[in-house]
Amino acid sequence: MTRSAVVCGLGAYVPPRVVTNASLAEVLDTSDEWIRSRTGIRQRHVVDPGVATSDLAVDAGRRALASAGTDQVDLVVLATSTPDHPCPATAPEVADRLGLAGVAAFDVGAVCTGFVYALATAAGLIAIGVAERALVVGADAFSTILDPADRTTRAIFGDGAGAVVLRAGSADEPGALLGFDLGSDGQHADLITVPAGGSRQRSAGGSVDEWAQYFTMQGKAVFFNAVLRMSESTATVLRDVGWTPDEVDWLVAHQANVRILHAVADQLGLDRGQVVLNLDRVGNTVAASIPLALHDAAAAGDLVPGQRIVLTGFGGGLTWGSAALRWPAVRLEPAHHANLTHLTTKD
Ligand code: COA
Repeated sequence: MTRSAVVCGLGAYVPPRVVTNASLAEVLDTSDEWIRSRTGIRQRHVVDPGVATSDLAVDAGRRALASAGTDQVDLVVLATSTPDHPCPATAPEVADRLGLAGVAAFDVGAVCTGFVYALATAAGLIAIGVAERALVVGADAFSTILDPADRTTRAIFGDGAGAVVLRAGSADEPGALLGFDLGSDGQHADLITVPAGGSRQRSAGGSVDEWAQYFTMQGKAVFFNAVLRMSESTATVLRDVGWTPDEVDWLVAHQANVRILHAVADQLGLDRGQVVLNLDRVGNTVAASIPLALHDAAAAGDLVPGQRIVLTGFGGGLTWGSAALRWPAVRLEPAHHANLTHLTTKD
């Protein structure tokens, strides 16, 4: 049997501070009604001053390692587009703080598709024997790059982290990652961007103020591309693994907007109830979105071992990606359930 990467642990973390739609409406020209009806989001969690992406990643990573019943991996891959610093990568610090000093550790940048890209990277390194066990984390403190005056982006994004542990196993085991589809379209890089802070701006000179230092997004074009690419990518990975849409139990899609998720379900001929939904409680948490949704669905008892699961993501780049697996029996730590209770706190 072919050597494959198998999911064997799952953890998540969101920072404790909750920002409701009502509290956003106190400082911006928006309303709970607008945000709920246009996005499905009721609240999001945001970091306090001084808290960075690595802090979220360490918490989620620790929980995923406990869930897997191990404190040993030989690879850490961190998906993020809000690293603690432009240089170096954040993953080595996360590894060190988890007691994993010395292991291979690097960041993957694919914005909201980052977790799927990181999962594929780690699965590939396991498949070719470079690693036996990997910790794959998606973490973003996206609130730190939002324009405080931008009602559109502040309504959508939240902070958080999710993580899985992969181990070497075989393709016939539950939890085995059976197939991936990954893609990009750099012609539309400007739809989702932070213009300043990179080599383009630095080599051109001028003050950061002359460049946009905050995250910008062209919402309508992003919406259209998200539906198109997640639908196409999911269909591709289903074809690759030989599943028909009616054999899928759950679609765990990037939590961008409930209207995007429903449109993807409609395109694929899935029941809208088969799409895992937690964006109402956490918003769009970028690279953390898919593992956080997986975690919440598993903690709620919705994901049953043996079920057929498809993960699909879309994000800046543009990038997109999907993965298919049968859900494994994963033990979640009691802390995970406490976390879920926290997530389900009503406004
Ligand atoms: N509160 C109130 N009004 C808002 C608002 C907010 N939080 N955000 C935007 N608006 C306004 C706009 O300014 C616009 O006003 P105008 O008509 O006076 O210009 C109006 O609402 C309609 O804006 P529009 O962009 O047409 O709304 P929409 O239905 O497309 O919804 C998004 C906007 C951002 C919610 C939607 O486009 C979206 O979800 N896009 C995808 C975003 C995403 O998923 N990004 C991450 C992908 S990885």
